[in-house]
Amino acid sequence: MCGIIGYTGPEDVLPLLVQGLSTLEYRGYDSAGVAVIDHAGELQIVKRAGRLDRLRGALEGRPIHGTTGLGHTRWATHGEPNDPNAHPHTDAVGHLALIHNGIFENFAELKAELEAAGHVFRSETDTEVIAHLIGAIRDEQGGDLASAVRSAMKRIEGAFAIAVLDRHDPHTLVASRREAPLVLGHAEGASLLASDVAGLIAHTRDISAMLDDQIAVLTPGGITITDLEGYPAEAHHYTVDWDISAAEKQGYDHFMLKEIHEQPRAVHETLLGRVNGEGRIAVDELRGGAAVEGDLAHVDKIYIVACGTSMHAGMVAKYTIEHWARLPVEVEIASEFRYRDPILTPHTLVVAISQSGETADTIAAATHARNQQAKVVAITNVVGSTLAREADVVLYTRAGPEIAVASTKAFTTQIVALDVLALYLAQLRRSLFPDECGDHLARMEMLPALIEQVLEQEPAIAELARTFAGAEYVMFIGRHVGLPIALEGALKLKEIAYVHAEGFAAGEMKHGPIALIDQGGPVVALATRGHVRGKVVSNIQEVKARGAVVLVVATEGDTEIKEHADHVMYVPDAHELLYPILTVVPLQLLAYHIATTLGRDVDMPRNLAKTVTVE
Ligand code: F6R
Repeated sequence: MCGIIGYTGPEDVLPLLVQGLSTLEYRGYDSAGVAVIDHAGELQIVKRAGRLDRLRGALEGRPIHGTTGLGHTRWATHGEPNDPNAHPHTDAVGHLALIHNGIFENFAELKAELEAAGHVFRSETDTEVIAHLIGAIRDEQGGDLASAVRSAMKRIEGAFAIAVLDRHDPHTLVASRREAPLVLGHAEGASLLASDVAGLIAHTRDISAMLDDQIAVLTPGGITITDLEGYPAEAHHYTVDWDISAAEKQGYDHFMLKEIHEQPRAVHETLLGRVNGEGRIAVDELRGGAAVEGDLAHVDKIYIVACGTSMHAGMVAKYTIEHWARLPVEVEIASEFRYRDPILTPHTLVVAISQSGETADTIAAATHARNQQAKVVAITNVVGSTLAREADVVLYTRAGPEIAVASTKAFTTQIVALDVLALYLAQLRRSLFPDECGDHLARMEMLPALIEQVLEQEPAIAELARTFAGAEYVMFIGRHVGLPIALEGALKLKEIAYVHAEGFAAGEMKHGPIALIDQGGPVVALATRGHVRGKVVSNIQEVKARGAVVLVVATEGDTEIKEHADHVMYVPDAHELLYPILTVVPLQLLAYHIATTLGRDVDMPRNLAKTVTVE
């Protein structure tokens, strides 16, 4: 949520901030704003409710030139998305500007205290309160901006990242974070900060991810990091291995479409090098080495925790882990997990899945699990993310940056990474013979080519999408591994096309949902080859008998399915447990083309934001 960018260096900062915000806009698009210290030493702030284009418009014809500045795109939490509530916010005297991502939980108490001291607030945000607090501390105690931020951090509660600049110190930015992401970029003669790497990649690949309660002081000459007591501290330093083209549309109309088409390559990357020199399946990071591997061999229960699309990937993994590693698996919505007192022991493994690695609920679930002595495996796409650092074992999905709000390539690569985890556990527990693990990996290596074959059907799927674009309500049904794909197909459609859609276990239809079927209502059914195909076909007949128009996802060569379907989308033949990686692709394309037919803003659907860093 909320995109943050900051720069201090030799370049004219305004175009650079606006460019950075366009890369980060996917994090929130309720409003956008910039603060620049101009060459005359004045603090210039321009901010507008709405998309970045409104800010661009407001900046036209306003020459603001300076070399140090901050930019922000907002996903509103406190206060409606209007101009006054847009960031940056200033302190009482308008000398310093602050942007933030996250929530200050005790802002009401701090606001009351400041109001009692005579402060007047111009917005409804928690952000302005913290700007005033830092300004007041600075006036009271003197010293530099970093000292004031340090003192303020000791008073603020919540999960947030902040960046501040001060017109009295025109070539310095100060930043801090607690349980919300903030990355620093080291460039030649310049220093940068951003809420995620996508905002920095045009300038540098040399990155430091700040850790909780660190204070960073950025100047053109470099970045110094201290802890809350002022002692030198170290952030998590790493080099990003993707370049700016990965964060650009490269000729596609939308990031979502580009990312759908990137899936063959992304899946290939996720699988790359998964067998080490000793012929054993490898994870990316195993903290605690052999001891942790020993613990994993004795796991007796797995919880998978995640949100949204990532949770659907977890639901697929329940089938593979139970089948290959013979371990009981429960899949939980991360936001529910820690509030229901789950039974966790040192023999429990919690698998936390998050594309961003910054989803507040998933991190909280993982932290809760670790506090109860459970082992944590993170499946994430973002190197150095909070979740990756929290975990005992990390498996990176290596999908490259996912910019579209609707998750696609992250989903397929999460399933692949989870399949690798299932085989890794099977190897540790000896529930599969080594050659069986090898056979499964070999089948997985075929997946990129098989996904390519599905993508070739895009024109036909786009045509179908035009047929279905007028539907008010679409039902998705599936059994076994088809069920999570039905849920995911429905989620994609509702979030980007705003069409009411629900996924159901096909066998549950007659226990209630079938009442929703009426003449001509579309039903999408997952009926690929496997032990439940016949059962799904029976369920298809039940809905067709009640007037549904049925679109079936089936296995190539299954011509008999046409007798039961109005339309068929085929995927190539595959191992039953690997079908989800193929069957989700036509559903992603279907949702995409329905959304574009309806003229929706596919990459930035209303009310949503990528990376949900608040609970
Ligand atoms: C849907 C979607 C969301 C995310 C969810 C979790 O297309 O993208 O449902 O899957 O917000 O995000 P991560 O995986 O970053 O934890």
